Amino acid sequence: MASALAEIPTGLVGDVAAGRGSLLDAAEQRFGSQVDYVATDVDRAVVRFLRRERAHWTTGRCDILNPASRRASSCFRNVAFDAVLLNPPFSYRGGQSRSITFGGREYRSSPAAAFVSAAISLLHCDGQLVALLPANSLLSQRDEALWLAIGRTAHVEVLDQYRRNVFPGAFARTTLVRITRRNLTNSPDQDGSASAVARLPQRGCVCVEILRGRVPMHLLKRWSAGQQAPLLHTTHLRSGNILHSSQSAELRLATQGPFVALPRVGKPLAEKVAIYRQSEQLVLSDCVYALRTRDGGRLDQLHQSLLSRFGDFSRYYSGSCAPYLTVKRLGEALAKMGWNPLAVDASSPLLQTCQCSDRNRSSKRADLGFPSFYGGDSIAL
Ligand SMILES: C[S@@+](CC[C@H](N)C(=O)[O-])C[C@H]1O[C@@H](n2cnc3c(N)ncnc32)[C@H](O)[C@@H]1O
Repeated sequence: MASALAEIPTGLVGDVAAGRGSLLDAAEQRFGSQVDYVATDVDRAVVRFLRRERAHWTTGRCDILNPASRRASSCFRNVAFDAVLLNPPFSYRGGQSRSITFGGREYRSSPAAAFVSAAISLLHCDGQLVALLPANSLLSQRDEALWLAIGRTAHVEVLDQYRRNVFPGAFARTTLVRITRRNLTNSPDQDGSASAVARLPQRGCVCVEILRGRVPMHLLKRWSAGQQAPLLHTTHLRSGNILHSSQSAELRLATQGPFVALPRVGKPLAEKVAIYRQSEQLVLSDCVYALRTRDGGRLDQLHQSLLSRFGDFSRYYSGSCAPYLTVKRLGEALAKMGWNPLAVDASSPLLQTCQCSDRNRSSKRADLGFPSFYGGDSIAL
């Protein structure tokens, strides 16, 4: 889990359900004395152990799910964490709901999601949390509203999924997630309702590559030989996040990240627009679009452009029973938001040269239609 953290040159790393401190031990092996370590736990005996055995850490007792206990803890006073590692107790598994406040709103959630939201509130504005959670937490209906709210202030990535009994005490299937807070300075309201269009960059590169996925799901088996890359289909777009896929297809069909993914086909839903921040290649199904910016910059801004007026954007999808979005219409929508859309092949390398000076020419190209590989229903593979 410590290796899933991005590099931290200096700062504070914590575990708020620290137990005997094995996660922070791993962090310390990785980051050494360049960062400071804070370990808290609700269990007095555990805290005594930590004080004795890890005297160079800051340690204290705190019930992290209790706001009064968090406020009273000197470990959290006037500090913001660069990273938190979290392996909450799995014995909470089952029906108990917790009432928690996140982003000024009340939610009822599973204990695991409550631990996550409490830990996020301790991070500084672009801090990161790596957590091992029961697999059902990300998918359960009970936690859906809270995960959506988390997704509006942080980027949630599923790094791995494990079967039962892989970790001591974790009888359930588990999921390893990395949650990186978004620095919201200069970006739309957290509830996504504000207009981001007005906040579009007036200077700098506004090129957006449109990449249409080209692997039909019913033909996936055709590309199961050779070097593989994970698949990205609409079912993997969930609650503003990209879920890890166990399916794959030939690497030569893959698209390089980072990008914003959105459905080409199906009911337009804001929760299915998600940022993929990694450069690792994914094969897009023919139901998905990827939007890439030059060198992967301004992805949050692009994401917010789509979400902030999602009602308007969804009208670019046409067809009543199975709505779909053509490349041309997507290009028109992006141009209207102030971006410079360019349709490219799904396997093309990430754009490195700004094409904004060709802006007039490329918007004319949108009127004339996009290159031939977008011409019909069947796409050359
Ligand atoms: C699975 S263990 C964590 C192991 C630990 N991260 C490690 O690296 O060894 C879960 C810990 O959560 C603590 N805990 C349970 N409820 C808590 C709460 N509400 N606030 C803080 N700690 C809690 C337990 O005392 C236990 O030590």
